[in-house]
Amino acid sequence: MSKILVTGGLGYIGSHTVVELHKSGHDIVIIDDLSNSSLKILDGINEIINFNINFIELDLKNFKQTKSFIKENIDIDGVIHFAASKAVGESVEDPLKYYTNNISSLLNLLNALKSLERKINFIFSSSATVYGKPEILPITENESIKVAESPYGNTKQIGEEILFDLVKSSPYFNVISLRYFNPIGAHNSALIGELPIGVPQNLVPFITQTAIGKREILTIFGNDYDTHDGTCLRDYIHVVDLANAHLKALSFLIKKKENNYFDTFNIGTGKASSVLELIKGFEESTGINLNYKIGDRRIGDVDQCFAEVSKANNVLNWKSNLTIEDALVSAWNWEKNINNEKF
Ligand code: UFG
Repeated sequence: MSKILVTGGLGYIGSHTVVELHKSGHDIVIIDDLSNSSLKILDGINEIINFNINFIELDLKNFKQTKSFIKENIDIDGVIHFAASKAVGESVEDPLKYYTNNISSLLNLLNALKSLERKINFIFSSSATVYGKPEILPITENESIKVAESPYGNTKQIGEEILFDLVKSSPYFNVISLRYFNPIGAHNSALIGELPIGVPQNLVPFITQTAIGKREILTIFGNDYDTHDGTCLRDYIHVVDLANAHLKALSFLIKKKENNYFDTFNIGTGKASSVLELIKGFEESTGINLNYKIGDRRIGDVDQCFAEVSKANNVLNWKSNLTIEDALVSAWNWEKNINNEKF
């Protein structure tokens, strides 16, 4: 049994990954600073797995505390690093917050882990945002990395570069960077899911909040794109499938004999859906009529972004199983639950 540290393990993708990791028999320790989560998510995890997971409240920006935490947990052999801020718009308004949260936390964690002089299998949360406006679709991992469109995107690019350089220089780290496309949905128990703070920027939380009456109307950001129905195309992936990609990446690294391994993988379904198709899918799978209108384009949106996923399929032996309908129904059940629980 491996001991796995999950940073940001009470966040959206982190919490689902913890559940899947526990199911596969790993010993887990979660650290989270609760800046974008709630202890109710910990309760949700514990209820799903019927076990009290080891959780420490810790801010990775504090190097002293990070170092002593790692010293107390020297038997860690895997790290899944989710802890980061992720709102694209906020990162444009407050870039220093993003560089501090996302980069100094990563550096503190790596410096503390390096001092163990022990083999560490490290999974990094990256994003399709590193590709910017893609030149070729579907997007492969060989797509060129362009100047980032936001400080958030830049922190993902810089994070990958830091890890690439570290791996070259140190025999102790093997790293996989997973580039997520558009994660949606929630655990089918409706006990964990995404907790958007304020007005959601992402499509699915906006859909479910409109359906429940927290928002009056959903605006579709543009219907004059060069796509079959004029709305943007994205690769929406169920968060539980995404969580399982981390398990596959981790077991791939655990089995790996060589050192100095770094690689990147796209994690999506390979299928493109339009905004209108997602709305129709929500209406059909829940029986709810959604109040929506067509509005202007949103600055920074690319018309199409979907993944070529054969590398993750072949090398990591991972593929997505759940459907968009599964994801939309689970997101809706989660919305109803958080509304009752008043998170
Ligand atoms: N959209 C609307 N109305 C809304 C919200 C979104 O029409 O109220 C549309 C967007 O214009 C876009 C699609 O829904 O066409 C998806 O938008 P999201 O905001 O849900 O997702 P993005 O593709 O813009 O962003 C995602 C991740 C980011 C990541 C980015 C680039 O959420 O973290 O992909 O990879 F940076």
